[in-house]
Amino acid sequence: MEQHRNRLKSLREEALRGGGEKRMEAQHAKGKLTARERLDLLLDPESFEELGMLVKHRSTNFGLDKQQFLGDGVVTGYGRIDGRLVYVFSQDFTVLGGSLAEAHAKKICRVMDLAMQNGAPLIGLNDSGGARIQEGVVSLGGYADIFYRNVRASGVIPQLSAILGPCAGGAVYSPALTDFVFMTEGTSYMFVTGPNVVKTVTHEEVSSEDLGGAKTHATKSGVTHFTSANEAQSIDHIKRVLSYLPQNCEEDPIRLEYQGSDESRPKLDSVVPESAQQPYDIRDVVSEVCDAGSFTEVQKDYAENMVIGFARLAGQSIGVVANQPAFLAGVLDIKASTKAARFVRTCDAFNVPLLVLEDVPGFLPGTDQEWNGIITNGAKLLYAFSEATVPRITVITRKAYGGAYDVMNSQHIGADLVYAWPTAEIAVMGAKGAAEIIFKREIADSENPEATWKEKEADYAELFAHPYNAAARGYVDEVILPHNTRAKLIRAFEMLKNKVDTLPRKKHGNLPL
Ligand code: HXC
Repeated sequence: MEQHRNRLKSLREEALRGGGEKRMEAQHAKGKLTARERLDLLLDPESFEELGMLVKHRSTNFGLDKQQFLGDGVVTGYGRIDGRLVYVFSQDFTVLGGSLAEAHAKKICRVMDLAMQNGAPLIGLNDSGGARIQEGVVSLGGYADIFYRNVRASGVIPQLSAILGPCAGGAVYSPALTDFVFMTEGTSYMFVTGPNVVKTVTHEEVSSEDLGGAKTHATKSGVTHFTSANEAQSIDHIKRVLSYLPQNCEEDPIRLEYQGSDESRPKLDSVVPESAQQPYDIRDVVSEVCDAGSFTEVQKDYAENMVIGFARLAGQSIGVVANQPAFLAGVLDIKASTKAARFVRTCDAFNVPLLVLEDVPGFLPGTDQEWNGIITNGAKLLYAFSEATVPRITVITRKAYGGAYDVMNSQHIGADLVYAWPTAEIAVMGAKGAAEIIFKREIADSENPEATWKEKEADYAELFAHPYNAAARGYVDEVILPHNTRAKLIRAFEMLKNKVDTLPRKKHGNLPL
């Protein structure tokens, strides 16, 4: 037995060495952790159970048979985060650059299959030079095997992807198919083709950082949902996001214990400025309405006219979708619509109720928006809300104009409840624009057009710049004082907690992509 024990011990030690000390030092010198150090940070102590530690590739191409590393460049298995089961894979850049080929892909697919069969989240820690060039087409096949599983698992179990190193070529598509992407500043990159190929094809000179670094994807493309200064922070973000989500689509998110008494929030009474033209930060409303410190903003530097994120209300996990009057007046444009639509669908897939805070002057006009498809892209948000079966409540804080009124979770498209503050203005458009159109002739013919315009504007505002027409129709369930908002929402979401709503039988809908 002693002999057997020693053999196993030595194999295990070999696997733990990865690509060797020198490469591990190089990894640390770049400010990166090793695959196993990352898992230590991610998982509860002593909870990790490794699978396939002794797997080897079987390629003989280009001398690869002489480069055997136990585990084949990826550490896979299962463990616990805050006591909850998760499946993980962590690519080891010290082994052939974390490159993916047959055996490496098979190990990832195995944990994906287990995650699906057992209904628990899958977390991928990506750090890889992409398809292992020496192994050829089996590397491509391996990627496709993973993509296929990502899609099958979509909406069934939460899938989270941390990008902790290079991520090029096909390697970007698995993270893109998952629910959340987390990038680290300075050490992680995502691009379909790197700077060299870009230069050859388009003659553009661009650095890896500018082409596909964390900042680029956080601000320009929206590919990443979270950006962190270092890997430890990225891993903290993963844990936090998981805490709002259930294990799978059949379960509800965990509800934290909550014992509150005074739910009145007087600060809310003075958030909306006197003038309708003046901006305010919708996050001030979010932080007052939701449990203290519970808001985790998603894609915070992308399409800032729309604020999205997870929060808690009396301990219950909710998704917040809010127009941001402090940025472009909170207008709905292509980026804001797609950002919110994706988040609404993520929440709906995982039974997270939705709170919508509405202050929107309408859709953004212009050739740029029209030519790039604001019609199709705005329709995505309309579609996402209309399709969502989770409890959903809207609070109109100020403007709810035009098509944007319909789109932002109106009662007509299935909101369970719509509240409005007394400052709400619910109309086809703002009073100034409306007066200009309706009274065009009177204004033009008048001796003092400016004064006539102002007068007509005031008439229109008197008639429509308030919530009471909508309330008279029942489109607004209740006009509430801002300080009561939190108390109302806690009761309302409690009332809706057993909501059952089903979609008509179909293969799947046809989201306007
Ligand atoms: C095999 C690879 C590799 C790869 C890196 N290595 N990428 N081995 N296949 N794709 C190896 C290197 O040979 C080296 O081995 C070690 O990993 C570390 O690489 P370095 O270049 O020394 O590290 P660094 O300077 O940090 O650069 C990292 C890198 C670079 C940016 C990732 O290695 C690189 O550009 N690699 C190629 C990327 C690529 O073109 N991949 C294919 C994408 S196409 P030693 O032995 O020295 O440690 C693709 C198609 C999939 O993925 C399509 C699916 C649909």
